[in-house]
Amino acid sequence: MDRYVFSARVVHWLMALGFLFMWASGFAMANLVPEDTALEEQLFGLHISIGVTLLFLLILRIGIRLFNTPPALPDEFPAWEKLGAHLGHFALYLLPALVILVGWAESDFGGHGVHWFGVAMPKIFPTMEMLGGLNVEGVSELLHELFAYLMLFVAVVHVAAVVKHKWVDGHDVMSRMTFR
Ligand code: HEM
Repeated sequence: MDRYVFSARVVHWLMALGFLFMWASGFAMANLVPEDTALEEQLFGLHISIGVTLLFLLILRIGIRLFNTPPALPDEFPAWEKLGAHLGHFALYLLPALVILVGWAESDFGGHGVHWFGVAMPKIFPTMEMLGGLNVEGVSELLHELFAYLMLFVAVVHVAAVVKHKWVDGHDVMSRMTFR
């Protein structure tokens, strides 16, 4: 059976798990956890550390992808579904990159810096609130959230497509990404 290479499958599931944590922790920080508490600070630190880990995994994943052609989609897929799958997969490379980059900018603009489990990461963006009358800290916060929810939407469609292929069309695409 055609499968993604082992390393691609491992990184795919590590990233899926990591992003589940990012959406849950991001939502909790924005809506559930009281502000300026130790819990908020711990969750914030973990959100950033896992986010940086996901950036490393994304770079690794792009490397794996560039050196390994994925298995071709089943011939029975209509052209529109093949196109949809390719666009969706492309978005699931692009959106994580955007979410993480904008999150990094938000943290640098706000002067918090980015720490990966206690290790200071390079400061890419200056500490500043306003640039030419634009509240860059606020804009990056908004974009980070917008890209994160857009990515969640694409991921939900991605999972729905896998379920539809298996249960409606009878194509077990899931086994291309699993270990059994
Ligand atoms: C937990 C729910 C998820 C399930 C069940 C799932 C399942 C799958 C499956 C079965 C494939 C192979 C599709 C094919 O036959 O070509 C796949 C590919 C892919 N998945 Fe997921 N996925 C999930 C979450 C995610 C998340 C959160 C991301 C984003 C980080 C993601 C990104 C991708 C990408 C980019 C590909 C295409 C890889 C390539 O062709 O280069 N998936 N996924």
